[in-house]
Amino acid sequence: MKKIPVIIDCDPGHDDMMALVLAYGSQKLDIRAVTTVAGNNTIDNTTRNALNVLHYIGADHIPVAKGLQDPIVRSHKEVMEKLAENRRRMYPDQGSQEPKEKIVGASAHGITGLDGFTFPQDNPMQVQPMSAVEMMAKVLRESEEKVTLIPMGPLTNIGLLIRAFPDLVEKIERISMMGGTSEFVLTRPFMEFNTFVDPEATKIVFESGVPITMFGYDVTYRVLCGKDTIEQMEHLGNKTGHMAASLLKFFMERHNKNLSHLGLSDTTPIHDACAVAGVIDPTLVTQSKRLHLDVEIGGTYFDGATICDYAHCLNLPENVEVVYNMDTQRFLQMLVDAAANCQ
Ligand code: RIB
Ligand code: CA
Repeated sequence: MKKIPVIIDCDPGHDDMMALVLAYGSQKLDIRAVTTVAGNNTIDNTTRNALNVLHYIGADHIPVAKGLQDPIVRSHKEVMEKLAENRRRMYPDQGSQEPKEKIVGASAHGITGLDGFTFPQDNPMQVQPMSAVEMMAKVLRESEEKVTLIPMGPLTNIGLLIRAFPDLVEKIERISMMGGTSEFVLTRPFMEFNTFVDPEATKIVFESGVPITMFGYDVTYRVLCGKDTIEQMEHLGNKTGHMAASLLKFFMERHNKNLSHLGLSDTTPIHDACAVAGVIDPTLVTQSKRLHLDVEIGGTYFDGATICDYAHCLNLPENVEVVYNMDTQRFLQMLVDAAANCQ
């Protein structure tokens, strides 16, 4: 069966790691390029992490291009500090938080952005001599067929691509994104990390007219991974299984600590892998709804929040398919099978 041409845009990130393993190990996707974005950590760290994961799983042939230092308008460092301040204010009892000067990213992923496993230092992979947006434009321009974009970090690169290369928008088949949410969530009402970091880019994407499927917290906090799946990966007996199991254990511990009020004991979401799984096999999606989505920019409480017009009261186009549920067992089995196909 013909592989689906995709570009993966990521900010590894533990769940980004699992999404890359799924994308490559599924053997169903023609990964034309991987691009990186500043999100879970600095652009240098997310890029190093992407190179390390791809090399470790045996995907050295996939070109990697580095994104920008900051979101389109905001400063990455200031956004991270604002996020940490929100958490300090909302969860003062969470004990010691990383000192301000060490805040480079989301606490769930640790200081390096991919804490919990030490990759070999002899990785020969290098980034391509062009920016992430230029790489995306090159792939779209040279492709004979339309290409699906799978962003799983802030939408900075996608927003810039749409603005800088409007003639190439028609070459985008669909955007299968991890981000946003339509329901009250964790740290603040309606706020998900990726859209919080770059709301301006999110707005460009939502208004682009490109078909969008959004795998937000609505689904990613329903399709949870437990210790049994992690044990299956550990027992695969290959490098990738052990690496993925080690990193998912770290991610689970951080989630259970940071979000104890949600009762996530011994489970963890694998946010980004949902957006990949939905491209590999759309029948995994068991519940979705087409809605008009916008994103709040500025303000004290809802800056970066995705706002859904549930009641269709704005009479505006339904621009996003919001995914609410997926077949959890098939999804988790897909992750294990993909890890088994890697080195
Ligand atoms: O809110 C979850 C998203 O933010 C995921 O993509 C995770 O990797 C972080 O980037
Ligand atoms: Ca991510």
